[in-house]
Parts: sequence; structure tokens; C-alpha cells
Amino acid sequence: MTRTQQDAAPFVPESRKLPELAAAAGSCRGCGLYRNATQTVFGAGPAEARMLMVGEQPGDAEDRAGAPFVGPAGRLLDRALEESGIDRGQVYVTNAVKHFKYVRAERGKRRLHKKPSRTEIVACRPWLYAELDATGPELLVFLGATAAQSVLGTSFKITEQRGKLLDPPDGLGRRPVRLVATVHPSSVLRAPDRDRAYRAFLADLRTAAAALK
Ligand code: URA
Repeated sequence: MTRTQQDAAPFVPESRKLPELAAAAGSCRGCGLYRNATQTVFGAGPAEARMLMVGEQPGDAEDRAGAPFVGPAGRLLDRALEESGIDRGQVYVTNAVKHFKYVRAERGKRRLHKKPSRTEIVACRPWLYAELDATGPELLVFLGATAAQSVLGTSFKITEQRGKLLDPPDGLGRRPVRLVATVHPSSVLRAPDRDRAYRAFLADLRTAAAALK
């Protein structure tokens, strides 16, 4: 497969029923990441969700579990969602890239997260758009630059735009949608001042919660 051929679109069915999309995504070969991953990690949550939240890609725990945000970043996200008054059960949670990309640690068996390339992000985007069509959310929340830039382009800067309620580019989704971008929860876990980073993350999620009131 050459670089220019990387594209999930031929694998995305016409259906906009989430179970059918998830089943088809299970055999996506739109880029090379399926080869080393355990499984596709499709989005999870109700089809009628008002909020759709996008992360980067599944991590080690998600790759094993087959569900998004169930590892350490997911636990931090769960806590922040609860504290900002957002019921995760009402949110459709997904990732810009649906397979875990990693490198093996030099010693030991650990699998270390590797950032997906722009080609892989763009190749996987038809799945995210299909999820957007299937759920028709009122608010899109991007967790980190990979997620935001997947839809908004590489000139989008989280540092400048985080926590603002934004209008989308034309033609996004099947009904009017607004956007909030914030940092990725993993960056909060890695921050030198974790409390401060967490409070800023919470403030952004509270903006998202308020947008749906
Ligand atoms: N990080 C992500 O971006 N997504 C997950 O599902 C887990 C960790």
C-alpha cells in the first residue's frame, strides 16, 4: 500500500447505524495500523448523544479492551467529566484514529504510544465523519491537537483556542454543531503542575457542559 492510497473511505458502509459502522470498522485496512494492533477501537456511547468527544487514538489499555478511554487517561477524563457535571453515559466518546500505534520498549514488553502521522489521521477520518453523521451531536469536544486538527486542519492551535465555544467549518455533521477544544487528558497526567493543569482542563469541560444547557 503506498502512502497516497491510505484511506478508510472504501471500508465505510453506507449505513449510519452505529453497530453496523463498528462492525465494518473491525475489518478496516485503510492504513497500516491494523497490522500491529489487537483490534479496532471504535467509538462508544448513545446514538442520540448531544456531545461527541474525540481523543487521539486508543492506548495500550484501550487496544486490549476494545473500548475508548478505559486506561489512565480515561480515568482522569471520567473524574473531570463527573466534576464538570457531564454524564459520560450520555456522551459518544471516540478517537481520531481507531487503532493503537506504538513502538516496543527497548527492554521489556511494554508498548509505548507513538503519535499517529498526518496520513494515518486523514486516512481514518471517514470513520469519524460517519460517527458524526450517525450521532448528529450538538457539540463536538476535541481532546488534544490530534483530534482537533483531524477536523480543523493543522493550523489549529489548542494553546490559542482551548476552552472557547467555536463555530465549525461549513458542512460538518448533519445538523448545526459547535466545538470546544481542550488538551488531551494524558497531557494533564504528564504536566509538571498537575493540579493546575487539571483545573484548566476542568474549566474547559465546564464550558462544554454549559454550551448544552
Ligand atoms: N488516549 C486517547 O486519545 N484515546 C483513548 O481512547 C485512550 C487514550
